[in-house]
Amino acid sequence: MKAAVYHRRGPARDVLEIVDLPVPAPGPGEVRVRVRVSGVNPTDWKSRSAGPDLPAEGQIPDQDGAGEIDAVGPGVDPGRVGERVWVYNAAHGRFNGTAAQYTVVPSAQAVMLPDGIGFDVGAGLGIPFVTAQHCVFADGPVAGRTVLVTGGAGAVGNAAVQLAKRGGARVIATISSEEKARLAAHAGADHVLDYRAPDYVAQVRRIAPDGVDRIVDVAIAANLSDDIDVLVGHGTIVSYATDAPDPTIPVRRLMTANAHLEFVLVYNLTREQREAAVNAVSEALRVGGVRPMPEHHFPLDRIADAHEAVERHALGKVLVDIP
Ligand SMILES: NC(=O)c1ccc[n+]([C@@H]2O[C@H](COP(=O)([O-])OP(=O)(O)OC[C@H]3O[C@@H](n4cnc5c(N)ncnc54)[C@H](OP(=O)(O)O)[C@@H]3O)[C@@H](O)[C@H]2O)c1
Repeated sequence: MKAAVYHRRGPARDVLEIVDLPVPAPGPGEVRVRVRVSGVNPTDWKSRSAGPDLPAEGQIPDQDGAGEIDAVGPGVDPGRVGERVWVYNAAHGRFNGTAAQYTVVPSAQAVMLPDGIGFDVGAGLGIPFVTAQHCVFADGPVAGRTVLVTGGAGAVGNAAVQLAKRGGARVIATISSEEKARLAAHAGADHVLDYRAPDYVAQVRRIAPDGVDRIVDVAIAANLSDDIDVLVGHGTIVSYATDAPDPTIPVRRLMTANAHLEFVLVYNLTREQREAAVNAVSEALRVGGVRPMPEHHFPLDRIADAHEAVERHALGKVLVDIP
């Protein structure tokens, strides 16, 4: 099969190569997916750039993808062969990422794609939507609550806006450009604010005089002070991204607010948390509750360009078309 692979960590165009590899066989409890589209996320270039030495076989990149199951291992219902699926965490602790004609994953990591939902949409779900779903709902339902999503045009942020709206919340999203404002509004944000405006905190307070109930934050170090200023007592700030340097924690202000500060790494959710998030994303997909971002397509031969596009914060979803 045709696959992208890297054997050492470093810049995309220095380490990524296209090679021919044997088609992998699914083991017990696994399915093999004929990948049609691979979705690229920041995690893919970050783990390609730095980390411990790789095993001799190297690493096929990319966690997310979509395609059809073409073989199942022992213990998996053979009726799954032919099923259209979206795939998540394919490269997490495993060789076979999605930037290849075939990947092999545990059966639960290949989730049925409803009829009428394309592979492009499916390949954009895993990391952004599962993370967003968990961040928005980790502290319980949001119906009737006000949720602030910072970076509402980012992949995770945009998914969080959509999922919070779907959960019945009033959603405030932050952005830094007109184009990003349109994307956040398209996702369903009730209010879209430029977080760089000098009166940003006052704007949030006008919308939510008692404070916002939950904040899903993409840049906790930059935003923590503003977050505390707009958070309701006993409210929750959920951080899922690092922006160096780490913030100083203003204990007195957080204590006064009886604030909850939560941190999320999607790879380390418990099995129950992951299942709950994946099922909720599937349900959103089934009822038409997912609005895809603009797409940037690259052929597999140009996967280095795709990784670089994500490193440069391309606005929208970066996808690799698998031949
Ligand atoms: N913990 C996890 O499990 C997990 C899961 C997924 C992603 N992540 C991480 O989360 C980050 C975002 O991922 P992504 O795929 O959503 O990236 P993305 O599509 O590039 O979006 C990042 C967004 O953050 C916004 N942003 C940056 N600084 C901001 C600030 N101070 N306030 C408000 N918005 C700000 C950017 O908008 P502006 O240009 O307007 O600032 C941009 O829209 C990455 O670092 C990624 O590695 C972590």
